Amino acid sequence: MQVHGQKIVVLGTGGTIAGTASAADDNIGYTAAQVGVEQLLHAVPGLQAASGGSLVAEQIAQLDSKDMEFSVWGALAQRCASALADPDVRGVVITHGTDTLEETAWFLQSVLDAHKPVVLTCAMRPATALVPDGPQNLLDAVAVATTPGARGVVVVAAGAVHCAQRVQKVHPYRVDAFSSGDAGPLGWVEEGAVRLVKNWPSGQSKQALLAMKNIASCVQWPRVEVVLSYAGATGALVDSLVRDGVQGIVVAATGNGTIHRALEGALLRAQAAGVRVVRSTRCPEGQILPKPGDTFADSRGLSAVKARISLMLELLA
Ligand code: SIN
Repeated sequence: MQVHGQKIVVLGTGGTIAGTASAADDNIGYTAAQVGVEQLLHAVPGLQAASGGSLVAEQIAQLDSKDMEFSVWGALAQRCASALADPDVRGVVITHGTDTLEETAWFLQSVLDAHKPVVLTCAMRPATALVPDGPQNLLDAVAVATTPGARGVVVVAAGAVHCAQRVQKVHPYRVDAFSSGDAGPLGWVEEGAVRLVKNWPSGQSKQALLAMKNIASCVQWPRVEVVLSYAGATGALVDSLVRDGVQGIVVAATGNGTIHRALEGALLRAQAAGVRVVRSTRCPEGQILPKPGDTFADSRGLSAVKARISLMLELLA
């Protein structure tokens, strides 16, 4: 579909970018999700001009992203889908907390036909900080959303553009808190210009449209849990999840997908009982190299939290 519109729709969901502290030098004792998205936009000089004077703000939620809920994801996906279908809209920017940003990004990449850009951005310092990073991130996100040819769901933070598939929060405090691991970012934003070193993510997907229908009609999301393999692991947690009716389990395995034998035994029992089991690695970089005869499905390079989202969407279908 050709992009004609000029409007950039900015959807606020909360996070540190909208956080406030009682003192400007307090970078950790703040409360996330306090400032409305409209106010955030007004606080950035030059933002309206950078967007061509066409920013439209809407508050979808106001939360600390550790508390992200499926209902918010549903509302966000519906609003993004309607904005993307609107010929007046050029792209969408979403302000979000950093903590689960990679999950929301992967969810949206999986359910949207993002033939226009959907740009998630955030901050590691609250809006009241001496040097908040949110304003520059917002400017950079708008620069990406207005870049000709931009498409797909991407994350913009600390001057880098990451794809939803690879991006991970890798640091709890540093302003440059995100990484795309050994894949590297898609590019950088420099003085309002995007320097791409990889292609934009694919923005067309029939599977995405089907997933969107499924989430619109779903009453209850499938229960999928993540378990971790570590020294001294047991199968007790998995056995109890199965008794409790879990539908899917993602295991964050060690190294190239190895799993403690006690945990592996329980996962095999779960799989035999009809629970879908997917194996990812707990290594922050690289991905499992599958071998013939592997007993569990492979997450195909997705981290455990993103593999969980993909498995939930598969179970919904
Ligand atoms: C959040 O994820 O909402 C709080 C933390 C942050 O945005 O950095």
